[in-house]
Amino acid sequence: MTMTISTMTMMISEGGLRFASEIDLDGIAEVENRAFGEHAYDFVTLKYMVTEANSVTIVFDLKGRILGYATVYFRKNSRVAHLESIAVDPSLQGKGVGKLLLDEIEKISVLNDCNRIILETFEMNKSALSLYQKSGYVVRDVLVNYYTIPFDGSRNAIRLVKKLKNNLE
Ligand SMILES: CC(C)(COP(=O)(O)OP(=O)(O)OC[C@H]1O[C@@H](n2cnc3c(N)ncnc32)[C@H](O)[C@@H]1OP(=O)(O)O)[C@@H](O)C(=O)NCCC(=O)NCCS
Repeated sequence: MTMTISTMTMMISEGGLRFASEIDLDGIAEVENRAFGEHAYDFVTLKYMVTEANSVTIVFDLKGRILGYATVYFRKNSRVAHLESIAVDPSLQGKGVGKLLLDEIEKISVLNDCNRIILETFEMNKSALSLYQKSGYVVRDVLVNYYTIPFDGSRNAIRLVKKLKNNLE
């Protein structure tokens, strides 16, 4: 999917956001494993997400080291974007990188003509839920036993949705 990177202007310290490609897979996998542990996607899934799906992946790059990433999926004939994954390396969590990634994914979704973004997260993932709800996402569904491996004793997912603002609408 082609797009200019001109909207990616925000920087945290010396790090910044950029689009990901196949050469970033090792770095993305490292963040994924460190952030999600036993819940991490395997390499094959990450490769599909970054290189084959109708998706955009962005990374937070600090001096050549990837410390965060997010992937959004798009579907033909749908104006609903799907945030497939977002993760920040544990060493940098709580410093605003997750919010930076999420804001950028929303802008990219608007540029791809989407008017909503949806996602699922573990019902016990307090930090993720807090990030999403502070960013204006609202709960749409509880999906019972959605995940294979429990997180804090629950396999349930919360599906959240946000209406995206397109300045042209
Ligand atoms: C969820 C995650 C992406 C947030 O990224 P982050 O860089 O740590 O988040 P930020 O520093 O941008 O914080 C943004 C908001 O998230 C929430 N948040 C982040 N860390 C939190 C924590 N440990 N406890 C509670 N809320 C937290 C807060 O609402 C915060 O806003 P505030 O700083 O104004 O209080 C990150 O914690 C992570 O990678 N977690 C593991 C992977 C994961 O669960 N991904 C989401 C799966 S759906």
